[in-house]
Amino acid sequence: MNLSTTYMGMTLKSPLVVSASPLSENLDNIKQMEDAGAGAVVLFSLFEEQIRQEAATWDYLTGADAESFDERLRYLPLMDDFRIGIDAYFELIRKAKEAVDIPIIGSLNGITADGWVDYARACEDAGADGIELNVFFVPADINQSGAEVEHRYLNVLRMVKERVEIPVALKVSPYFSSFGHSAKLFSAAGADALVMFNRFYEPDFNIDTLEIVNSLDLSVANEIRLPLLWLGILYGKINASLAATTGVQGSTEVIKYLLAGADVAMTASCLLKNGIPYIYQILAELEVWMQARDFHSVAEMQGIMSQMQVAEPEAYERANYIKALKDYRF
Ligand SMILES: Cc1cc2nc3c(=O)[nH]c(=O)nc-3n(C[C@H](O)[C@H](O)[C@H](O)COP(=O)(O)O)c2cc1C
Repeated sequence: MNLSTTYMGMTLKSPLVVSASPLSENLDNIKQMEDAGAGAVVLFSLFEEQIRQEAATWDYLTGADAESFDERLRYLPLMDDFRIGIDAYFELIRKAKEAVDIPIIGSLNGITADGWVDYARACEDAGADGIELNVFFVPADINQSGAEVEHRYLNVLRMVKERVEIPVALKVSPYFSSFGHSAKLFSAAGADALVMFNRFYEPDFNIDTLEIVNSLDLSVANEIRLPLLWLGILYGKINASLAATTGVQGSTEVIKYLLAGADVAMTASCLLKNGIPYIYQILAELEVWMQARDFHSVAEMQGIMSQMQVAEPEAYERANYIKALKDYRF
């Protein structure tokens, strides 16, 4: 059975990629991921805020910017909140590259194109095989238009692409008024892959204390349906590779993502719940499923349920919605 796939120009031995999470903070975990069959590992992110805070601390200590330090600290997360320092991040990339053969993808997480994106180059210099850019941006300013939001993504992407030779993936939000068109713009601007979708952790309220609560719930399987829709629509229509993220709990979700047209399916929650060796089980089940249906390679099954290839392409659009409502029985 040929489980290999191509992602951002790289040949991966399997289509299951470990997405950014604290699991990759540890070199032994990264080795385990390779042993269990992961095609690649996306490291946890370096955050723009973390980089800015280190720069602010440096300016303060060297006397260059003593005045504004307190002001900045008020708005930035504290340094200790980030579990690994910036230098340690690049050191981890170096060590991971020595320890494993699978691609190691560095992750940068921020919303501006100002200064900090130079760190993409440091990831490349440390040996990263690619960069994943996570633009986690909530457009809370109601004066900002959709086009301006798109520009923000494009600016960050272009700045990073100017700095590195290695491929760059853009981890995106689904919240664009015409996501397909936005995806086309990102691909045309040089995104080597789109990672769909960023999972937003919206604030919750504690109704006893009247406080805003930040909690992180791990994903569940039926969250795959939004990425599945857009993967299926985009397959065959843009140059960028397609990565699915959110909701993979086992082989079923991986199979669905590949059928929709993903080049890789990424997973984080499932490994946090079940442990890294679970990768092995997912891939074994994928092989059994493929064998039973006479697929010999991942390439043979990729995209066969995409909008382009299904018998009823309208099932991807309004027709499906009307049918779902009409067929509901109570
Ligand atoms: C504890 C935790 C930490 C995460 N850290 C990052 C991160 O540093 N950078 C990032 O881009 N995504 C991060 N993510 C998001 C995951 O990479 C992934 O996109 C998301 O969890 C959806 O995939 P899943 O359903 O397989 O969990 C994190 C997710 C979890 C659960």
